[in-house]
Amino acid sequence: MPNNAKFSKAFVWGTATASYQIEGAVRAGGRGTSIWDTFSHTPGRTANGDTGDIACAHYDHVDEDLDLIAGLGRSAYRFSVAWSRIQPEGKGPANQEGLDFYRRLVDGLRARRVAPVVTLYHWDLPQALEDAGGWTARDTAERFGEYAAIVAEALGDSVEMWVTLNEPWCVAWLGYGTGEHAPGYADVSKALMANHHTLLAHARASEALRRTVKAPVGIALNVTPMIPASDHELDIAAAKRADGFQNRLFLDPLFWGTYPADMVEHYSSHKPGLDAVRPGDLEEIRRPMDFLALNYYSTNVMADVARLDAAKQAGFEVAPPPTSGANADLGAARVGRVYAPHTGARWEVDPSGLTGLLVRISEEYTSLPLYVTENGSAELDYAGPDGQVHDPKRIWYLEQHLRALHAAIERGVNVRGYFVWSLLDNFEWAHGFSMRFGLVFVDYPTAKRTPKDSYRWYRQVIAANALP
Ligand code: FCB
Repeated sequence: MPNNAKFSKAFVWGTATASYQIEGAVRAGGRGTSIWDTFSHTPGRTANGDTGDIACAHYDHVDEDLDLIAGLGRSAYRFSVAWSRIQPEGKGPANQEGLDFYRRLVDGLRARRVAPVVTLYHWDLPQALEDAGGWTARDTAERFGEYAAIVAEALGDSVEMWVTLNEPWCVAWLGYGTGEHAPGYADVSKALMANHHTLLAHARASEALRRTVKAPVGIALNVTPMIPASDHELDIAAAKRADGFQNRLFLDPLFWGTYPADMVEHYSSHKPGLDAVRPGDLEEIRRPMDFLALNYYSTNVMADVARLDAAKQAGFEVAPPPTSGANADLGAARVGRVYAPHTGARWEVDPSGLTGLLVRISEEYTSLPLYVTENGSAELDYAGPDGQVHDPKRIWYLEQHLRALHAAIERGVNVRGYFVWSLLDNFEWAHGFSMRFGLVFVDYPTAKRTPKDSYRWYRQVIAANALP
């Protein structure tokens, strides 16, 4: 492994956040209700009953947060626009106060020489659209195109990169297939429709953006490498199914204009489902993008549910198999590598998976520029007696992943940038505030921000354009 990984001058260094996870101020500025407001306020849905009502109070701390971003040096900042601030009911005319908020953010970034990277959808669908079927409804994709046109018109002169949707797999399958995320359905049929409609929404938004902006347009996928738990044919098949489910159901339509044959077959009895596809949709979905964004945290070791006892005997950590929803239907389960390093939130750490992922995408799917738009670790951070937050494990995690990314570049993969998840500790969806991913510690009761050691480490990396 290179011990002093150097990056090209043009390499983009960034941090990332998402609207519902940081903004708070859910009733300010004419914002409408989103599915995450509803979901987080439903008892039992989030750890501790946590909600994003206040979160990091970013809405009221924009200048302070802009200065924190600028303090990292010459970088990019990826944030998402809350659809319900722009169109409180998910359709109709724009809410000027909502646009003004993001205009101020974008101008503040540019004034500090930070490149704004906008994600149009990071999971906070206007509740009014959910009431009309949400992502199971084709109409939501049409509405998304209109929303994209509004944002493009308002911010298009100042945004350097556009990400249409963040992790449509999570939107469709965690939202409608397992129920872990808003709106909380565990229904394979709904998830299949949502799968298709999120991709169609990407196509509609891309088209709308291209009418107005010249900046590059792409989508962010959480492609997760799937490794079989053994060389038994059932485990190999389970890992392939899991890859189809989480990765190829999105990659194949985007790059090849087809849904993978094995998945079409697997889901053929679920109706409605992929029969939501209409003539012409796939041609639209496969229209060329300018880059592909990838979010990477870990790899999954997969076993067939019929072989979980064998996996246990082989030393894997095995949870009881799911009995309903998309995971039960898949017949494959993730098993834990007990001896792998883990983050503070018990996520397995596997940096080499990032190299493999980048190589695979470039060999199998595309030579487009790739960006890692999320990577990071949740650790058990706290402010010590010196008032500082020392987070050596996060620094180690980030460093290992940057080395892994650099290894992919050395193998010829066209990787153009890297964004740490996240700038700030924030509302981690169903895990509420129990998971801290930030380079900056947030004391939630007071909203006080304290840059962690990793913040200063990342600043050095950016300044040197190399690992220390
Ligand atoms: C990703 C999400 C992001 C954050 C990280 C930890 O799946 O895009 O919002 O929750 O995981």
